[in-house]
Order: sequence, then C-alpha cells, then structure tokens
Amino acid sequence: MPGITLGDTVPNLEVETTHGTFKLHDYFADSWTVLFSHPGDFTPVCTTELGAMAKYAHEFDKRGVKLLGLSCDDVQSHKDWIKDIEAFTHGSKVKYPIIADPNKEIIPQLNMIDPIENGPSRALHIVGPDSKIKLSFLYPSTTGRNMDEVLRALDSLLMASKHNNKIATPVNWKPDEPVVISPGVSDEEAKKMFPQGFKTADLPSKKGYLRHTEVS
Ligand code: BEZ
Repeated sequence: MPGITLGDTVPNLEVETTHGTFKLHDYFADSWTVLFSHPGDFTPVCTTELGAMAKYAHEFDKRGVKLLGLSCDDVQSHKDWIKDIEAFTHGSKVKYPIIADPNKEIIPQLNMIDPIENGPSRALHIVGPDSKIKLSFLYPSTTGRNMDEVLRALDSLLMASKHNNKIATPVNWKPDEPVVISPGVSDEEAKKMFPQGFKTADLPSKKGYLRHTEVS
C-alpha cells in the first residue's frame, strides 16, 4: 500500500462531511476512530456496509470508539443516500459523519486507493487518539468487509494498548479468551506483570516462547 500506513500520522485535512466541516485531528482527538472508505454512493455493497456500521454503532459506542465514513460523492448525495441505507437496514440510523470526496482528492491522501484499479478501495484505518494509524484493511471495491472482524481487530488493539503491548492476541482471539505474552517480556517480568500466572506451551523446541495468560 503506497502512502500512509501503520504508525503514520493521518494528515490533518479539513473535510466536508454530512455533519459539517472539521479537521481530521479534531475528530480523532481523545478517542479511537474507525475511518472507512467507499467507492461511491448508491452502490450495492457500500449500501450494505454503511447499513452494517449503523447497526453496529452501539458496539463502537460501548468501546468509546468513533466512526467516520468516506464516499466519493458530495454531501447532498450522501444525505439522499442515507435515506436508502436506513430503509435497507429497517431503521438503524446513520449517526456517524460521512466525508464527501466528489473529486477523489482526499482518498489518495488517506491511502485508501486500490493500486490495481488505481481508484477508490474499501480501505479501513483504525486510528488511535494520537491520530496515527494502528491497523489497516485494504479490500477491493468488489469485496464487502466483515464487521465482526472489524470489531474483533479493534478489541485486540484496545486490549494490547491497555497492557502497553506486553500482550498480543492469538489466532481467532475474542474478548474473554486467553492472550499471549509478548516475546520481549522475560519470564521474570511476566511473573511480576501477570500475578494471575501464565501457562507455557510444552513444545519440541523447549524455547518457552508461547505463553498464555488471562487479562481483562
Ligand atoms: C458496490 O458498492 O457495490 C460497488 C462499488 C464499486 C464497485 C463495485 C461495487
């Protein structure tokens, strides 16, 4: 993915949205944000995705996480399209702002481009309160995203951040399941950090690197 990527600061662009004009860093301030792009309004996959974001909004609210959409049309078109999205989702309201990008000027600056098509993609950045990208998904316009995976990845980021990245989440992890202790943490440090204890997998190498613990 050329352009901004993990660890980079999202440019502080002034954006026009369905909720007025603001600067991105003002929106990101003090919370995590899921920023997701769409190729255009009144398109089938995008309609299902924005509807799903509206349905899942309470899950993001519960975690104190903001949503911010982007689609490559103007604000009036977004407002008209929202009526379709809400009808399609049987009443879930689109309460999050959607950035207007009718001239496709913003989307390359946010690195939300499909390099094969050289056009808008279904990119999604999870942005931290420091306005830096913590995770990115890049899907082509033909593939709709999985909102459960967005939420699962977000939960992983929040959990790792809460524990200063001294833990990581293993394959298919979900909240309330054990996590693993990060490789940079020695057993001595782990004993202090995780008084609840940890289990080291007994593997042929005997290297003791796969250690599970329970955290909340
Ligand atoms: C869609 O949202 O359905 C879509 C948008 C652009 C290209 C292909 C599909």
